[in-house]
Amino acid sequence: MNQPLIIALTKGRILKETLPLLAAAGIEPVEDISKSRKLIFDTTDPAVQLLVIRGSDVPTYVKHGVADMGVSGKDMLLEVGGADLYELLDLEISKCRLMTAGIKGAALPQGRVKVASKFTNIAKRYCAERGLQAEIIKLYGAMELAPIMGLADLIVDIVDTGNTLRANGMEPLDLIADVSSRLVVNKAAMKMKHQRIEQVVEKISAAVVAKR
Ligand code: PRP
Repeated sequence: MNQPLIIALTKGRILKETLPLLAAAGIEPVEDISKSRKLIFDTTDPAVQLLVIRGSDVPTYVKHGVADMGVSGKDMLLEVGGADLYELLDLEISKCRLMTAGIKGAALPQGRVKVASKFTNIAKRYCAERGLQAEIIKLYGAMELAPIMGLADLIVDIVDTGNTLRANGMEPLDLIADVSSRLVVNKAAMKMKHQRIEQVVEKISAAVVAKR
C-alpha cells in the first residue's frame, strides 16, 4: 500500500524544464541530479522517487509498470505506440516539430525513396500513408548528414529552430506532428494508486496553466 510513486523522467533538456513543474507539485530531488551519476533519486516527498533515463526508454518503463508515471516527448510516444499507458497531460515544454526534410530544392527520385531516421516506425507509417515506396534506414543521430552523403533522400527528424537543417543545406518539408512533453501513466497504476496519481497530476496541471 505504501509503495513509493515512481516517476520516470527524460534526461537532458526535457529534464531541466520538467523539474520546475514537479517542484510546483512539491516534488524536488533531494540532491542535484545534474551533479550525480545516480539513476534513482529520492525527493522531498518521501512517497515519490524519480528515475532519470533516456527519453526512448521512458515509455518502456511506464508500459511495464516499473515506473507508475513518466515524462516523455510526444515523438517517443508516437514511435513506440501509446497502448498500455494513458497520456494524461500536455506539459507544454520542449516544444518542437517532427518533420521530413531533404536537400534544398532537390526532387525525390522516381520509385523507391531512402528515408533515414531514428524514428523508424514513424517514418514507415508516414511513407505507407503517402504510398511512398521506401527503404527505411535506422540512424541514432546526426540525421542531417544522411542526405548530404547520399545515404538517404529524406530524413524524419525533430526540427526546433531549423538552424541545423539550414546549416547543412537542407529544408523542412512535411509536418508529421507537433511535439511537446507529455505526462504518461501506467494503466494498472492508474487503478491501484489512483488517488496519489490524481493529486500529483492536478498539481502539475496547475503549474502548467500558471506558466502560460
Ligand atoms: C535535434 C534534432 C536536430 C536538432 C534540431 O538534435 O535531431 O539535429 O535538434 O534543432 P534545430 O532545428 O533547433 O537546429 P539534438 O540536438 O536534440 O540531438 P540528437 O541528435 O541527440 O537528437
